[in-house]
Amino acid sequence: MEFIKNVINEPVNNVQRFLDFKINKQDFINEMDFIISKIEEMSEEFSDDVFPSAVTMKNKYSQEFNGGGWTQGFWSGMIWLAYEWTDDEKYKKIGESHVQSFKKRLDGRLGIDHHDLGFLYSLSCVAPYKINGNEEAKKVAIGAADYLSRRYVKSIGIIDRGKRPGIIPDDESQFIIDCSMNVHLLFWASEVTGNPKYYQMAYEHMKQAAEHALREDASTFQEVNFNKNTGKVVAKTVGQGYSDTSSWARGQAWAIYGFALTYGYTKDKGMLEIARKMANYYLNRLPDDDICGWDLVFTENDCQRDTSAATPAICGLLELSKHLPVSDSDKMIYEKAALKMLKTLSKHYTTKKIPHSNGILLHGVYAYKRNTNIDDLCIWGDYFYTEALMRVLKVWNKYW
Ligand code: GLY
Repeated sequence: MEFIKNVINEPVNNVQRFLDFKINKQDFINEMDFIISKIEEMSEEFSDDVFPSAVTMKNKYSQEFNGGGWTQGFWSGMIWLAYEWTDDEKYKKIGESHVQSFKKRLDGRLGIDHHDLGFLYSLSCVAPYKINGNEEAKKVAIGAADYLSRRYVKSIGIIDRGKRPGIIPDDESQFIIDCSMNVHLLFWASEVTGNPKYYQMAYEHMKQAAEHALREDASTFQEVNFNKNTGKVVAKTVGQGYSDTSSWARGQAWAIYGFALTYGYTKDKGMLEIARKMANYYLNRLPDDDICGWDLVFTENDCQRDTSAATPAICGLLELSKHLPVSDSDKMIYEKAALKMLKTLSKHYTTKKIPHSNGILLHGVYAYKRNTNIDDLCIWGDYFYTEALMRVLKVWNKYW
């Protein structure tokens, strides 16, 4: 049955700014060549069990081990994308060493007591299974999905974010919009194991996200808290955004992409419609160069951008467009918008202008209000930038 929620569908304004964009495929090939040259350089510094940090200092990623946080999978994802683009065996070797690293992390329960296992294990272990049929990677990814499934709160129908003493009261359970990108590990696990329970958990979670995190105008809250005893919603907030009434750009991006991918697994048209409405909200709140501010409340041309929100949004637009029929006029708008944004990023937002950087995409924001890495590189921004170009240049089997 189709999921129905009454949400306003704002048509995209001024569509000609996207539709007039002229595609030059060679520009994108050149950009991919630049990215691969950076990944090659980075792989000298980050190999086997040494991963780039989540964000940069003075435009440089530092080295970190794979035992905490949510971001190490993005480097694995970049390695597998580089392998798929170049066929160079050296990337396959590094990617396979990452499977061992993520196995160790899962077996040792190192930094996995959170909801972000999709970011970690889809890119490090589902990817090599899909690309090379790596059975060990498949087993590790299923193990991670099973571990993630333990966070499912059946009485509420959500994947719980996890304990946050002093922030989330003990009698409350919280989900965050970011988890819209983690549930696909569960959908995938059902597909490969034949066990429907992971699918049901993921689908219920996304329906709850649509029901409670989505406002009527298709903007999003980041956190929704439920009372564990009554199952009632007790709070809705936007922790990483500007205010509890605004839409944090990266949260909106996680949701656009997450709902479009959820349609791919469920074929529930309601999920696709939600992705469409959120995409329209997003596209109507961009500065003139179409690269989003860190919160969608900021649309002026000198606002602080967040490229690490723009890139998952681009992947989401491309995924959404892929699922729409050619007769749907939004299909071309999303595709052209994504391509235009990629072109702008390649021209104005990369480290081509600061070659000493060991990363790719400038001007990301981690947590503006906490004054944490404002205007830095974020490894997930680099990953989604590479994924977006891969989507544009090749028929690509997603890792999610
Ligand atoms: N998932 C954490 C973030 O997007 O900052």
